[in-house]
Parts: sequence; structure tokens; C-alpha cells
Amino acid sequence: MNKSLGLLLDGQIAVVTGAASGIGRAIAKAMAAAGATVCVNHIGPDTAAKAVVSEIETAGGKGFTAAADVSKEAEVDAMIAAVVARCGKLDILVANAGIQKDAKFLDMKIEDWNAAMAVDLTGLFLCARGAARQFMKQPLNDANPNARGKILCISSVHEIIPWAGHVNYAAAKGGVHSFMRSIAQETADMRIRVNAIAPGAIQTEINRTVWSDAEKNKQLMKLIPYGRIGQPEEVANAAVFLCSDFADYITGATLFIDGGMTLYPDFKDNG
Ligand code: BGC
Repeated sequence: MNKSLGLLLDGQIAVVTGAASGIGRAIAKAMAAAGATVCVNHIGPDTAAKAVVSEIETAGGKGFTAAADVSKEAEVDAMIAAVVARCGKLDILVANAGIQKDAKFLDMKIEDWNAAMAVDLTGLFLCARGAARQFMKQPLNDANPNARGKILCISSVHEIIPWAGHVNYAAAKGGVHSFMRSIAQETADMRIRVNAIAPGAIQTEINRTVWSDAEKNKQLMKLIPYGRIGQPEEVANAAVFLCSDFADYITGATLFIDGGMTLYPDFKDNG
């Protein structure tokens, strides 16, 4: 965490979905370091999520775990209700939970399609709706003159870059782009800010088979003009900023954090 970001989220309550690992874990830790109390959402056993909370507490921050499958309406609503019961309010939702179920289009099973849609798109809808409903119960007042609440969607460069062999994921992320902008339009006059971060290749478990293989990693570098893979903390710092009052006039925006992957590097001196 960049210390110069200071306590940008002091006193805020944040839910970060899929926060037991990868980008979500880094965002949870960065938000806690910036002064937020963070609900570390996870699915399945809580060992990894508890470790994230321990790391947060060791660094002097506040956090707690919450199990919920983001694709299940009742579980999402119960998690948000539990956060509000515990903390009294909700200020930030980071809809980060996401999965890949890769298969060639002709071989793709309906289960693979449905799984990606359920987590990557329906999960976003359920969490964002639950958060926005809660935000509307929290009136604007002198103590809170800025946004009533903030929603940050963690998308992907594949919301615009077509991705053969991953059409379920790319279609879901394309949906995230349109969903984010549509709800930003619908909720701006409610003083809810909605933005997205579209990460490129960030070194996490989701793409381990690529960066851990020398030849695949070499091919990957051809797609990244900046010449290196990204780190989860580089996404997390931007997430803190976008959910802070420094970004109070930013809504409906997508910030690409991709080392230039979306600059179509193959077109350099070509085409
Ligand atoms: C995917 C990663 C991939 C990156 C760049 C992400 O959205 O989850 O597996 O490395 O996009 O292609």
C-alpha cells in the first residue's frame, strides 16, 4: 500500500467480494490500510479469508470475514444485512469475485457458460443491487456531503478485447461494462457512484498456468507493451482512490490497468 494514499477511506465500511485471494485480497488489505473496516467475502472454507483478516489486523486495520456465494440472491442479501447489523452502514461495495471456465466455443458446456455468467455477471448484479438498496437508506447530510455510496466493479480488459477460448468470460465482462454504465446512469442522481477497473494480466492464481510457464510467459509479454505482468497491489491502489472522496466527481468510468494491453501492440509499426 502506497503510504501517501493516507487514510483516504477513514471510517468507511467496505465489502470486497472474492477477497480471500488475488486482486480481491489486495483490495481488502489496501482499503483497510486506508482506514476502512473491510468485510472479506469468500466462498467455501474460511481459512484463506481469515488469513487476510489477520494480515489486516497485524497492519493495524479492521476486518472480518463473511461467507456468501455471490450468485445466490439470499446469501448476498444476508451478507449485506449482516454487515449493516454489525457496522451500522455500508459505504463501499467492490464487486471483485470472478471465475474463468475456459473451453473452446464448440466444446463449451452449458455448465461452463452458466458458471461464468452466474459469478461474473449475476453476482455483480446481486451485490450491486444489495449495496445500492442499502445506500438509499443512508441519507445525505452534513456529515456525508459527498456520495451516498460507491460501487466498484472489477471487470477485465476482456470487456473489450475478444478472447477466443474464453467466450463465456469475455461475454460476461462485456456485460459488466454495459451493466456498470447503465446503473451509473440510473443512480447518479441518487448520489451513488459506480465505476469499474479493467485489469489486464495481473499475477494471481487465475492465470498461473500462463505466468508460471516460461514459453507462455514469453508470448504474454508480446501482449504487454509495458513489458511485465501487473501486481494485485497496483489494482488495489486505484481501487482505494476510486472509492475515496478524491474521486467524488467520477462515475460511470472504467480505468484500464493493463500495462498497455489494450493499446493493440501488434499494430506498432504494422497495419
Ligand atoms: C483474466 C486473466 C488474463 C488477463 C489478460 C484477465 O481478465 O482473468 O486470466 O491473464 O485478463 O488476458
